[in-house]
Amino acid sequence: MAKLLKKGSFNREEQASCRLHNLCSGCQYLDLPYGTQCDLKKDQLLQLFTEFGLSSPGSIQVLSAGSASLRDRLDFSLEGGRLGLYRKDRREVLDISECSQLSPALQSWLSQFRKIKWPFQKGSIRLRVGPQGQKGVWLDFANIDIKTLLDEKTILHELQKEAFVEIGQRRKVPVWTGSEFKLRDPEMHVWFQTWMNERPVDLFCQVASFTQPSLRANKIICDVINGWVQSFPRSRLIEFGSGIGNLTLPALAVAESLTACEIDALSLEGLQKTLENLPADLQTLRKKIEIHRGDFQKKLMQDFSQFDGVLANPPRSGLMNFLNPLEELSPEKRPPFFIYMSCFPESLVKDVVRLKNCGYDLEEVYIVDQFPQTSHYEVLALLQRK
Ligand SMILES: C[S@@+](CC[C@H](N)C(=O)[O-])C[C@H]1O[C@@H](n2cnc3c(N)ncnc32)[C@H](O)[C@@H]1O
Repeated sequence: MAKLLKKGSFNREEQASCRLHNLCSGCQYLDLPYGTQCDLKKDQLLQLFTEFGLSSPGSIQVLSAGSASLRDRLDFSLEGGRLGLYRKDRREVLDISECSQLSPALQSWLSQFRKIKWPFQKGSIRLRVGPQGQKGVWLDFANIDIKTLLDEKTILHELQKEAFVEIGQRRKVPVWTGSEFKLRDPEMHVWFQTWMNERPVDLFCQVASFTQPSLRANKIICDVINGWVQSFPRSRLIEFGSGIGNLTLPALAVAESLTACEIDALSLEGLQKTLENLPADLQTLRKKIEIHRGDFQKKLMQDFSQFDGVLANPPRSGLMNFLNPLEELSPEKRPPFFIYMSCFPESLVKDVVRLKNCGYDLEEVYIVDQFPQTSHYEVLALLQRK
């Protein structure tokens, strides 16, 4: 991991400036130099480990892709002509024209997008920039406002000249028939990218899909996952929360086989398309993967004794009943290693306590700071059965 640690090193003295820092609720740590922010995150995690009676591994390393300009997607709100995030002092949207957390391509897309005059008051919007700089927007408005937008026509025509547009909770795509806009089924395109060592792999999904927030920071995450799996040669993995395959592919690159477990049908559709579109020399990976759809927080039918390792990246609520069959298994049949990634350390520690009771020890822990200037962070933990 030496190369990785070098890559993830950062300037401790850097201090961001933002003219909205007293008003915008987006960032909480703007007043602190970047090194102090990273120390705070590390201390907070160590404190959580202590509170839950967990002995932490030797040290926790913070890996960072930089203290600003990381984000390639932005979720914000429209309220009475203002576009931005909520204010710190009251429940009202603060108009934001510039944000140093956005990648240059996303900032430029935001500036362009802000020129639109919306014919209604409220809505949620996601802007995204893909790995080749392609622009996307997801407009999540009330049905009545969607109808207004489809009938108004000009805004959508102008938007579609610039970007790929998705609309509503069902992520439909507006299509011009020659006389009117019709909403058609969701489409999968390349909106994110994962890594198999130094090789980027295009991931198909939707603008509205869950992805990690930053293409750049994601390279660090993929390198950690790939490195850990590589240290257990020829392992058979079971993955919880594969989503569109962001961790699946870095793991699959070095694993013997992988069973992906995921609840979201659209994410799995994206993963299937990604696998179908792999370059010819990577097509053999398809033979190593099995995909299962279901609610794996409720019940897992798979037998943990058939696996050498677990790769888990659950939602905020954690793993829940996914761990029940592991607890019921006799200790020597449990997989030798468990990789756990989470942006919600409170649920990670609860699950790690259960894993500790199953005989697993924390071996290595990294924080990947993919949310600089905020109190949020990603934890990557490697546990091994004693
Ligand atoms: C934090 S995301 C991780 C996605 C992916 N690993 C990535 O890096 O993009 C959590 C994933 O868990 C999935 N998920 C949530 N609840 C689930 C459940 N009950 N069973 C299986 N998967 C679930 C979500 O749909 C989502 O894809």
